[in-house]
Amino acid sequence: MSDAVLGIDLGTSAVKSVVCRDGRIVAMGSAPLEVSSPKPGWSEQDPGDWVGAVRASVAEALSGARGVEIAGVGLSGQMHGAVLLDAAGAVLRPAILWNDNRSTDACEVLAERFPEIGEVAGVPPLPGFTAPKLIWVKEAEPQVYAQIATVLLPKDYVGFWLTGVRATDRSDAAGTLWLDQEKRVWDARLAEASDTDPDWLPELHYGHEQVGALTPGVAEELGLPAGIPVFAGGGDAATGAISLGAASPGKCFMSLGTSGQLLVVDKTYRPNPAQFVHAFCHTVPEVRYRMAAMLNGARPMSWFAKVLGCSVPEMLSAAAEADQSRIPVFLPYLNGERSPHGDPDIRGGFYGLDGVTGRGELSRAVVEAVAFMMRDAVDSFGESFQPSGPIPVIGGGSQSDQVLQVLADVLHHPVARSDAGKGGAAFGAALLAEVGIGARALSELAFDPQIGDVFEPKGSPGLAQRLDRYRGLYQALKAGI
Ligand code: XUL
Repeated sequence: MSDAVLGIDLGTSAVKSVVCRDGRIVAMGSAPLEVSSPKPGWSEQDPGDWVGAVRASVAEALSGARGVEIAGVGLSGQMHGAVLLDAAGAVLRPAILWNDNRSTDACEVLAERFPEIGEVAGVPPLPGFTAPKLIWVKEAEPQVYAQIATVLLPKDYVGFWLTGVRATDRSDAAGTLWLDQEKRVWDARLAEASDTDPDWLPELHYGHEQVGALTPGVAEELGLPAGIPVFAGGGDAATGAISLGAASPGKCFMSLGTSGQLLVVDKTYRPNPAQFVHAFCHTVPEVRYRMAAMLNGARPMSWFAKVLGCSVPEMLSAAAEADQSRIPVFLPYLNGERSPHGDPDIRGGFYGLDGVTGRGELSRAVVEAVAFMMRDAVDSFGESFQPSGPIPVIGGGSQSDQVLQVLADVLHHPVARSDAGKGGAAFGAALLAEVGIGARALSELAFDPQIGDVFEPKGSPGLAQRLDRYRGLYQALKAGI
């Protein structure tokens, strides 16, 4: 019997772990995480909580895989966060996360210091990315700044805890704004423009490469063999892609989770800073990907269900009953937006309410907004996006038939629910670890994912006008009111 591997994904709301053998999930575990927001626009987590959640989720996964020998560990995680360590490896302050908006001014400073940053680093500065966070720390917390010896991405802090080695992979490095995407190496000019000493940056790997070995102490704590290899893995966009076989040019998928993504794998580097399409290195050699990354994904649906005091399925049932001739327009920008606007200040809103607008119509408007957001994502790729078949869709939002039907109608293109991503990014991390231990060839990472139900475009009355209005409203509001 061949060896199994463990994939660990450090998400924003949970750590998920999967035990995998021969590309199949044997067992899974999960442990929740909280996000703290000590000030408006701030989003932080304590790396110590990550370690606690890794322990719990790994314990659950291993308890479902008794007798299985784990031969390697692969990592995945939320991207763009900044974990600051001192020379002794101690955490200096809570990690500043991908959806944190405090470094808006710092982005302007960075763009002024390095005007061609969007071309070199794959996307223009936005507050969620890592580099502007360092400018903010220098300004706002000089006592912290003075002690920085290492900057790690979230999953790489987990890797550091597992192995004692400060390392990252190129797909996560790609989301920092310190990587020269064309050459796939750290760019000292980008580091210096963001008040970052290039010596603080960890060593670079591809996702299937070993970063270190599991230390005896942590191995004992987790119930794993000491000394097994830990592989670099990838940022969650890249490991999510790997979980769906998106490792060769042309493959694509959409993700409707807390955040939303349209990701297309590419051979060449094609930055498109004007549309805030992220042109990033993949976690495997030779290929890259372009990604429209939306901060608001399917989250507006859970937000609105909470406002209504019901569950998301109940909100969706109300949406299905809505009077189709009276659907208002909803702008889903609860947290600003990245692609295609690059606008941390815009916020959400309903427009077009009348005296009989009810919960059904409002709910339907929220569902349509999720699809409009994805249509903007598709259009920002221009003619270069020509999917050959139904677009696979993963994430919580893809569980609803209604959401997928509206999506197909708005895109004028079939979409399909994909089960292949069930283990999600943690499964992608496990597949990379399988390559690492020699159980699978790199070329085998490019597979066709299993496709579930396919949704063909049918058309829906008024949808095209509401899309126009949705776009017009953003243009009207973006200057700020
Ligand atoms: C990608 C992105 C999200 C985060 C959180 O650019 O911001 O995928 O990694 O999951």
